[in-house]
Amino acid sequence: MAAQGTNARGDERAVSSEKKGSATAKPLAVERLTHADIPEIVQLYKRVWDAFRPDLPVELVKAWEPNALEFSSWMEGVTYFAARRDGKMIGAIGCEISEGTCRIVHLVTDPEARRQGVATALTTAAVDWAKHNNVGSLWADALARFTQAAQMFKKLGFAECGVLHRHYFNEDVRLFEKLL
Ligand SMILES: CC(C)(COP(=O)(O)OP(=O)(O)OC[C@H]1O[C@@H](n2cnc3c(N)ncnc32)[C@H](O)[C@@H]1OP(=O)(O)O)[C@@H](O)C(=O)NCCC(=O)NCCS
Repeated sequence: MAAQGTNARGDERAVSSEKKGSATAKPLAVERLTHADIPEIVQLYKRVWDAFRPDLPVELVKAWEPNALEFSSWMEGVTYFAARRDGKMIGAIGCEISEGTCRIVHLVTDPEARRQGVATALTTAAVDWAKHNNVGSLWADALARFTQAAQMFKKLGFAECGVLHRHYFNEDVRLFEKLL
């Protein structure tokens, strides 16, 4: 998974999406999100979190499915990157740089595009963005029940560094960090 064409602003990048053994994989593009992309990312979050109904607390699903206005507020202070294949948005990640660290937020992959390296490409873009901004570390949280997220972060060199109990609407949350 190699990032190519990164520029100084981090807003144009293309990554190869060729997973091991998939010679026919279509290219994956990871680009910085703009306001014009808001309707699409709102639909992406809806597809992702609707799939967890009714297992997740209803308040949590509501909080993680922003409407366009709410998402434009999320963009304040957070740089988002979106992954596209064939023009369709299939993943997203937010990078909130504050006080010398980069927090990863709202990382998702479309349910139909899982296990194809999408989150890996997005997290790699976040790491590049953090390095570009000279921060010392990245960190992320994930619901404790999301074991696939834990495996992904660990595979990408994040260490699990704590648990927040009954944190988001009574859900335990695991914390991950990567020092640069
Ligand atoms: C977690 C999530 C973002 C992973 O997205 P993805 O695009 O499928 O991840 P990748 O294809 O890049 O997988 C990278 C690695 O993560 C691990 N992984 C991902 N999904 C997994 C699964 N279902 N079971 C086991 N390991 C998994 C594997 O180690 C994988 O590498 P491999 O495929 O070479 O074995 C996706 O499952 C998702 O959107 N889940 C719901 C939301 C969420 O948990 N967000 C993260 C909170 S911060």
